[in-house]
Amino acid sequence: MSEHEDIGPLRNQVHAVWNSVAAGWAAQVDDIEERGSGVAGLMLDGLALSPGDRVLELACGTGAAGIAAARQVGPDGMVTMSDVAPDMVEVAVNRTRQLGVTNVATAVLDIEQIEMPDGTFDAVLCREGLMFAVDPGRALTEIHRVLKPGGRMAVSVWAARDRNPWLGLMLDAVATELGIEVPPPGVPGPFSLADKSALTGLVDGAGFLDVTLTDVDNPYVAEDFEQWWGHITAISGPVVAIVKNLAPEVRESLRGRLRDSVVEYQNADGIELPGVELLVVARRR
Ligand SMILES: C[S@@+](CC[C@H](N)C(=O)[O-])C[C@H]1O[C@@H](n2cnc3c(N)ncnc32)[C@H](O)[C@@H]1O
Repeated sequence: MSEHEDIGPLRNQVHAVWNSVAAGWAAQVDDIEERGSGVAGLMLDGLALSPGDRVLELACGTGAAGIAAARQVGPDGMVTMSDVAPDMVEVAVNRTRQLGVTNVATAVLDIEQIEMPDGTFDAVLCREGLMFAVDPGRALTEIHRVLKPGGRMAVSVWAARDRNPWLGLMLDAVATELGIEVPPPGVPGPFSLADKSALTGLVDGAGFLDVTLTDVDNPYVAEDFEQWWGHITAISGPVVAIVKNLAPEVRESLRGRLRDSVVEYQNADGIELPGVELLVVARRR
């Protein structure tokens, strides 16, 4: 067995969970792209891409950030869009076909073990994915390795749970309703890299220079409770299977609890649930 195959049960579990929600991501692709366009734009600003650049997108999901990068690097450039979940890569492939984006390649890659030669890419981007690495320091070292000298990285992760009610409310409600921690202790989750000094420490430790960290507001705006419920129960890796398997009365109780918790975020147009990401931009020495 190669080193790559021997990834251990925890990594297998995390990767399988994400593969299982790929269909939900495909169904929510418009919502995901619209909401994520602001942070994707800031990531691209940080990368300062040039026509002809070679770019790697890690943990691409539907590939929205990579597709935006592909438009910037033009026909002489190339973006490799990758994810550890093969079904998610398939969603990204379909999306590029649908949008007629041709200067892209796709690959199944684990951010913790990027099967690419040293010094391959001018830039690496990863939106909302690094925190699911079991060992994010190892992932950052891998990103550093595959960058060309002077190459740039832009990575975003979710800030602390209390700054992200758009997702934290659901995780809290599931935990209260079922009496379990979501995600379970020891399993990397959406808020695993919310500690800013720990995060910059990992980035520094991987050898990056010129490290900047910026808070980026990214609220979830919905017409109503049902839109938000439909979104979260389709895309949230830690939540989808739990909610799907609930007994009808437990599910209704959870929905009631959540309806109460979003009241404070209602406005004339629907609901706006706050969300904040941490955007890290850095350069390989
Ligand atoms: C919250 S989604 C973000 C998707 C996309 N980057 C976006 O911003 O829309 C997290 C993604 O990370 C991927 N992922 C989780 N663990 C990973 C790993 N070890 N290596 C690569 N991708 C991973 C999942 O499959 C999923 O597509």
